[in-house]
Amino acid sequence: MAHAAREAYASDLHRLTGVIVAPPGAGTAPAPFASLCGDHPVPGRASALAGKALMEAAGATVAGDVVIVLVSGGGSALAVAPRAGTSLDDLAALHAAMVARGMDVRDMNLVRRHVDDLKGGGLARMAAAATVRSFVVSDVVGDDPADVASGPTVASRREPRRALDLLERYGVEVATVRRMLRAEADASVEPTLHTDSAVSVAPGDCLTEVVVSASSCLQAAARSLVDDGAVLHSLQEAVVGDARRQAVDLAREVAAVRKVRANGADALRDVPVVLVSGGETTVHVRGRGTGGRNQTFALALALALPDRAPVHALVADSDGLDGVGGAAGAFVGPSTFDVVSRAEATAMLADDDSGGFFRANGDAWVTGATGTNVNDLRFVWVAPEEAAPVEWTGFDRAPHIVTPSRWAIDQAVAALRSGRLVAMPTETVYGLAARASDPQAVASIYAAKGRPSDHPVIVHVGDAAQLSQWTDADAELVDRWIRRFWPGPLTLVLPARAQVSRAITGGQDTVAVRMPAHPVALALLRALGEAVVAPSANRFGHVSPTTAEHVIGEFPDLDLLVLDGGPCDVGIESTILDLTGAVPRTLRPGGVTLRRLREVEPTVEPTVEAAAEPAPSPAVPRVPGALARHYAPISHTTVVDVDALRRPGSLRPEEGLLCLSFRPDPGREGPTEVLADDPVTYARGLYAALRRLDAARPPRIVVERPPDDPAWAGIHDRLRRATAGAGALDVHDVPAPREAREESM
Ligand code: TXA
Ligand code: MG
Repeated sequence: MAHAAREAYASDLHRLTGVIVAPPGAGTAPAPFASLCGDHPVPGRASALAGKALMEAAGATVAGDVVIVLVSGGGSALAVAPRAGTSLDDLAALHAAMVARGMDVRDMNLVRRHVDDLKGGGLARMAAAATVRSFVVSDVVGDDPADVASGPTVASRREPRRALDLLERYGVEVATVRRMLRAEADASVEPTLHTDSAVSVAPGDCLTEVVVSASSCLQAAARSLVDDGAVLHSLQEAVVGDARRQAVDLAREVAAVRKVRANGADALRDVPVVLVSGGETTVHVRGRGTGGRNQTFALALALALPDRAPVHALVADSDGLDGVGGAAGAFVGPSTFDVVSRAEATAMLADDDSGGFFRANGDAWVTGATGTNVNDLRFVWVAPEEAAPVEWTGFDRAPHIVTPSRWAIDQAVAALRSGRLVAMPTETVYGLAARASDPQAVASIYAAKGRPSDHPVIVHVGDAAQLSQWTDADAELVDRWIRRFWPGPLTLVLPARAQVSRAITGGQDTVAVRMPAHPVALALLRALGEAVVAPSANRFGHVSPTTAEHVIGEFPDLDLLVLDGGPCDVGIESTILDLTGAVPRTLRPGGVTLRRLREVEPTVEPTVEAAAEPAPSPAVPRVPGALARHYAPISHTTVVDVDALRRPGSLRPEEGLLCLSFRPDPGREGPTEVLADDPVTYARGLYAALRRLDAARPPRIVVERPPDDPAWAGIHDRLRRATAGAGALDVHDVPAPREAREESM
């Protein structure tokens, strides 16, 4: 949401400020927002600090300000402002007890509003002088904005008596909270009235709108399953209640579908049937295990299905964190009990250890925080009784983005096996992958990119044991590096075995290998069971892609499956470390800094700068150092010191600007990008920012020179190349972005 807001105000960034609170692992917000991390699912000190920051930011607004409030599920715990008379510990104890008691989310929110000043319209009241517009991604059944993050911009009633009744009914004992509610109830005017005692002050000019909901997400998912050839049997948006009981009901529904089929419903015999549902179930935790309501649901469903039934399901929390244990949810299928038996599974479920079960059988779905929460997602795929093997059918010769799932990984494996290319996310940049053992597919990468054939590609492995197929290098020597940095953004250049195709090494006797850290890349490599080669998924010489959309923009006409793993975390390419010489030397600075490499081996030599390097000869490794211009926008790009930028007239209004400490004059209208001034966040945003600036094809893009510090080496390297010999790259070499193409047709 923060990114979308930033996008919406892209032309006005210098007037935008704000605070973004997100859970751990959700990444940091784009500049110019300040990023805070709150606690989840139980509020802690970080949540209190976040709550304070939000309340202060809202309180500092004046008439004429516009306050944009972005609310999504999970917000109740992320930011709190304990009401006078209660402490943070009370709030934490209250949250934990209410969740453990399986309390309905509406009931929980009603209680929270009474003990937390941020909730129930509290944030909007702080900003009452300003215009408040609140946009909500709903994670609650029924999509009432008052129940998302307990409604920070939605006015609410004070109903202390009802709150007390609820705590009583669910057996939630937090003495101070009960005392406070009791005092408020006793002081209220009509002690016998069960409902409202006072309506809280309605915030001033405040509008709240639900922009994304569980319902829109489920509908879209169902549509895409139907597009893939399935028949939709049911779509239930609001499954609530006990997770185990609901799972058994769902298994019954599946049995009914299979029965109809068995009874000769020919129309259904050969097609998959899907059941889609959402909502929010509950688990009353009694055991000692880990897990969440979705993994509990998944395990109960698996146990309720007959052995080896051709039924595949994914049950997950859309925010990527299902209860405790770090998984988003789990997959269920015919092989669910191959590793851990049904009997053991039954015992684990009884101990509330669904998380332990799916960790043990390998079917936990671990996504990390997804950044969006529209509540629970359940997809059940009832395969035809004799399931056909997955076959790659192509996408009508156009690129196609899919979100990672087991289905998508199977499709990608099938595509690679049939010689097609797959764009995969890595933690650095998106790669254009082909099976390393398929010479024709490797050749088609070079053709698609327009890459010279003597420019070697990196071999990507999902298992370090595959290294021996590529190199005879001393295992111990290599092991020092991979133990520390794999999977991760470090590529090793090693002596190539004689069998290694010289098409991959660009004719050299060395080979570059890395193991990417992105979970989707690893899932793909492991499912494929062999290595791929994967250069960055861009036309040769152009800026590397850091989102799935960037890839499509580079190859709008290629029959290409693009796995969407979200924006890349590192943002610039891997560091390339050459281990074939007398001392290790980096050939390209990147995701791993020289300082970290030197912690393993102090003698590592830094990259020799492009300008200092002699003209390339075939005997010299073809690293980007040998190619001055690379990673380049189409518009002429130049790097300028901040002092020069400050001089009046340094920048023409229509020129693009990428700045970090410099702030342009507020009236400036030209395309402007602001990146954070720490190297990690800067690198993450660099290519996307260059692409946004380039989209308008300004006469020139001016980049503020980053600090001269070794931690910025990778960034300096890319900027040096993006600006080298500008104009040398013919505009026609690089596809125009989509909009521009359509206009010119
Ligand atoms: O982060 C990355 O490494 C990304 C992602 C997709 O994994 N990949 C990437 O690939 O940047 P590519 O093809 O755009 O850049 C690979 C670089 C090339 O500049 C190439 O010259 C160098 O690796 N390289 C490959 N094999 C080499 C070798 N044997 N000796 C020296 N350099 C080599
Ligand atoms: Mg590249």
